[in-house]
Amino acid sequence: MNTSQLYAHTQDQNDSLATFRDCFHIPKDVQGKDTIYFCGNSLGLMPKSATEYVTQELEDWKNLGVEGHFHAKNPWMPYHEFLTKNMSAIVGAKPSEVVVMNSLTVNLHLLMVSFYRPTPKRYKILFDYSPFPSDRYAIASQLNFHGFDPEAGMIECNH
Ligand SMILES: Cc1ncc(COP(=O)(O)O)c(C=O)c1O
Repeated sequence: MNTSQLYAHTQDQNDSLATFRDCFHIPKDVQGKDTIYFCGNSLGLMPKSATEYVTQELEDWKNLGVEGHFHAKNPWMPYHEFLTKNMSAIVGAKPSEVVVMNSLTVNLHLLMVSFYRPTPKRYKILFDYSPFPSDRYAIASQLNFHGFDPEAGMIECNH
């Protein structure tokens, strides 16, 4: 494995996605240099276009109130439909199989409602160290719902 700086720079130069870097705000370190940002799983970098898009929604809310559900530039009622095509490409499914909806915590509940089928011998839920409080409540309430004691059923991995 080549770990030289030259190799890394060459890989960067040949990266066909490299131009996307300019589409994001990159937080600076104390010296004012771009930080190296690996946190894509929770909160990714802010796209430079986000201000414009969020401002558009705020303006429509300001000017239309509840009517924004139907008359905003991007009407809020069918908002999920605007996201379907791109999301189906991202997850590799048909558009008819994908919907972007809810908060993460609600989706965790939906996931467990569908796939968590505990038995008296196999009911413990393993989760990453120090999750969001809402993750912890979702797991505890699923255990409770199935009649298990969260104290016994929640296994937090300490890595
Ligand atoms: C792992 C995890 N759990 C829960 C949340 C909270 O999400 P929400 O407020 O959408 O339920 C977040 C938000 O980033 C998260 O990253």
